[in-house]
Amino acid sequence: MSLLDDIRAEARLAPDSGISSIIDYGRGRPGLIPMWAGEGDQATPEFITAAAVAGLEAGETFYTWQRGMPDLRRALADYHSRHFGRSASAEEFLVTGSGMHAIQLALQATAGAGDEAVYLSPAWPNFAAAAGVMGTRPVPVELTFSERGWTLDIERLDAAITPRTRVLFVNSPSNPTGWTADRETLAAILALARRHGLWIIADEIYALFHYRGGRAASFLDVMEPDDRIIFVNSFSKNWAMTGWRVGWLRVHPSLQQMFENLIQYSNSGVPQFLQRGALAALDQGDAFVAGQVERAGAARDLVCRILGATNRVKLSPPAGAFYLFFAIDGLPDARAAAAEIVDKANVGLAPGTAFGAGGDGYLRLCFHRRLDQVEEAAERLAGWIGGR
Ligand SMILES: Cc1ncc(COP(=O)(O)O)c(C=O)c1O
Repeated sequence: MSLLDDIRAEARLAPDSGISSIIDYGRGRPGLIPMWAGEGDQATPEFITAAAVAGLEAGETFYTWQRGMPDLRRALADYHSRHFGRSASAEEFLVTGSGMHAIQLALQATAGAGDEAVYLSPAWPNFAAAAGVMGTRPVPVELTFSERGWTLDIERLDAAITPRTRVLFVNSPSNPTGWTADRETLAAILALARRHGLWIIADEIYALFHYRGGRAASFLDVMEPDDRIIFVNSFSKNWAMTGWRVGWLRVHPSLQQMFENLIQYSNSGVPQFLQRGALAALDQGDAFVAGQVERAGAARDLVCRILGATNRVKLSPPAGAFYLFFAIDGLPDARAAAAEIVDKANVGLAPGTAFGAGGDGYLRLCFHRRLDQVEEAAERLAGWIGGR
């Protein structure tokens, strides 16, 4: 018997990330344009890093507030009030060690072994895998693709709910599909959750990356204060901070102490000097985010135009997030295609198979890069598609 055989099955059977596998395959190839990971090409801006360095140099190297610094929680409330048009209080926020950590805590709080967590698929794989590690069964509900984009059939969602379901995980705008729920859809999901007594874990980390004017619709637009909704969020995407591992939770104030306890027993708080950088991001970073969103919108248009012109691609310009999830005619095996695209076009894409049910045959391209590189990558891809 190997050591691994003696490990808890839920941990032993946690799947490898299909995104990492293709990155490992193509890493370091000269001239490759990497569009496989869920991040932009820019390093964190200086006004954020300088604040973190100042904190570090000032000796902010001790254990710190488990919920997050009061200033940072106040800044989170201000950020939400500014962008979501509904006043928020610091008592609703806790700082976490990434969006992923926020998701883990939300799961720990709501679902356990033998429970079920329903999510919409294709999906960023980490939610389902994290649920699985806890012994909670992840249950995918497939979105449907048409020229109008990806849509949710609310009756299909309803049909997936069983007496064991505890949680609905809703990621809008979605990684990888760009599916972005409108207010009516969010209201319908909320009505369903209320009817069945379910928790919603709302992942709206891409809310500002929205290409149809203003931010994307949010559960905040349709909920009552005491609805069972836990918002998970992150500094990663808005402010080019993926490597920092800082995120936040927005919850009803009555859940503060319970979540503080879960933070204590997981990462025991986020380093204070990192929180200084996060504070600068919130207080001074609106213009930076607006610039990022504008550039991503232009990149989206460019890549859709160039790939669309091949007439061999199934795509719909995503309403939100910064990914194009598309299929190429006659290419059913996305994993082999992603490897071939690395070899022949020198572009790195993630295979749709990495995103679970409904992802077969698709590829995910992250277009959050310099426009000249996006154009170059799209031209290379179009050339490769045309030459097949
Ligand atoms: C939908 C979604 N939620 C959460 C995250 C987690 O973000 P992080 O752990 O970097 O804060 C990601 C990252 O790709 C994501 O795409």
